[in-house]
Amino acid sequence: MGRVGLMMGAPEVLQLTANLIRAIGGKRVLDIGMFTGSSALSAALALPDDGQVYGFDISEEYVKHGYPFFEKAGVKEKIKIHFGPAMDNLQKLVDDGQSGTFDFAFIDADKENYWGYYELCLLLVRRGGIIAVDNTLWSGRVFDTSHTDECTVAIREFNDKVHRDSRVRVSFLPIGDGLSLLFVQ
Ligand SMILES: C[S@@+](CC[C@H](N)C(=O)[O-])C[C@H]1O[C@@H](n2cnc3c(N)ncnc32)[C@H](O)[C@@H]1O
Repeated sequence: MGRVGLMMGAPEVLQLTANLIRAIGGKRVLDIGMFTGSSALSAALALPDDGQVYGFDISEEYVKHGYPFFEKAGVKEKIKIHFGPAMDNLQKLVDDGQSGTFDFAFIDADKENYWGYYELCLLLVRRGGIIAVDNTLWSGRVFDTSHTDECTVAIREFNDKVHRDSRVRVSFLPIGDGLSLLFVQ
C-alpha cells in the first residue's frame, strides 16, 4: 500500500463512524486531520442538511484534492475548513465559547498531539457524544516495545491513559489500523 493508502481513513472505519454520527443524531462534527477529505466527506454525508463538519488540517495541498468531491456530493457548504495547527484552532473554538456544542469528533492528525486533541475534544464534545481516534493499533507497533519512535510512543501512551480515564467509556476496535471509540460521560 502506498503513502496515500496509508493516510486515508479505512472504508470500514469511515462507514462505522458515519453510522455512529447518524445513530446519535449528530449535527456538529470535528474532523481533525483531513488529508484528501475522506473522513470529512463521509461525516458530511451522514449529517442532516443543517449539519456542519469543522475540518482541520495544516496542508491545503492535501485537502484541495477533496474539493471536487465535496462539490460533487453536494456537501461543500457543510464542510468548514480551518487551516493551520489543529491544536491552536481547536483551542480557539474553546475560547470562543463552543464547549459542549459538538456531537462527534474524529482524531486522525499528527500522533504526537493525540492526547492534546483528546483533551480539547473532551471540552468541545457534549456528554453522550463520541470521540473516535484512528490508528490506535499503529500496525501493531503499540504492542512491540522495541518500537520507540515518537508516534508509536505517543499512541501507546494514549491507549494506556485513556483506558484509565473515567470521563469516557472505551471501545477499542481492531478494524482498519485500530479505532478507539470514546463515549463521553
Ligand atoms: C492520516 S491523515 C488524515 C486522513 C483523513 N482523516 C482521511 O480520512 O482520509 C493526517 C492529516 O493530518 C494533517 N496534520 C498533520 N499535523 C497536523 C497538525 N499539527 N494540525 C493539523 N493537521 C495536521 C496532515 O496534513 C494530514 O493531512
